[in-house]
Amino acid sequence: MQKFITLAQIDEAAEKIRGKIPVKPQVGLILGSGLNGLADSVQNPIHIPYNELPHFPVSTVFGHIGRFVIGTLEGKPVIVMQGRIHYYEGYSMGEITLPVRVMHRLGAHSLVVTNAAGGVNSEFVPGDVMLITDQLNLMGMSGLNPLMGPNLDEIGPRFPDMSQPYDREYIDMARKTAKENKLTLREGVYAGLSGPSFESPADLRFLRLAGADAVGMSTVPEVIVARHGGMRVLGFSGISNKANLDGSTITTHEEVIEAGRIITPKIETIVRGVLRGM
Ligand code: HPA
Repeated sequence: MQKFITLAQIDEAAEKIRGKIPVKPQVGLILGSGLNGLADSVQNPIHIPYNELPHFPVSTVFGHIGRFVIGTLEGKPVIVMQGRIHYYEGYSMGEITLPVRVMHRLGAHSLVVTNAAGGVNSEFVPGDVMLITDQLNLMGMSGLNPLMGPNLDEIGPRFPDMSQPYDREYIDMARKTAKENKLTLREGVYAGLSGPSFESPADLRFLRLAGADAVGMSTVPEVIVARHGGMRVLGFSGISNKANLDGSTITTHEEVIEAGRIITPKIETIVRGVLRGM
């Protein structure tokens, strides 16, 4: 059963947060599997667990803490999701994207999304960071779009444009920061699947043919909701494992978490550089 979220519900959750924070956040950040550490860099942090907020789903996945961290990073007021909620946990598309709606209503004009992903591009190796330049909405193609149901006209149009899901100016800023810090930054298309099962070799061959460079179980619905509200988006995939197109190795959640340790500092360096330029 789809559960559609109303503007009143979004504003109720936003109001609860507003009462606890001194400044209006400008940038939202979503931390993917194994990438929680980035939230530890937030200055003057205020922590708000999702389970204290009305209508909020609660993250059930190991490696996802499940709270907002609100403070500053590089002097910019930020609201960080330390742990996200996935569709495969059994929540509706509306519920898993409610946090993005709330960040937007609180004043965030931009969103930085991060995730752990399998490398579909044969050149990618675990530990790589991929700047997301575009996305394949495979969940949407099979009928799972977070904008289904009554349109929230106060936030955005019924048929939002998706010609530039990831902001070109932010993409350039990320490239520049990576170069300045001598970090190798991969680039490519992120394909979003529902999970929770990893892909079969045939799934992966299909994704490669379709133009995917990385594959994961999140991000795409969040980016659609952010773009619906006019937020500018920057995205990174931490490549935690090589997609196994011939079935000769297995993929585990443990390796996804482990790779996060190498990836987090790289993503942090780039995100800080972009924040400085925002
Ligand atoms: N597939 C899907 N999601 C993932 C993977 C993967 O190989 N690695 C990390 N998240």
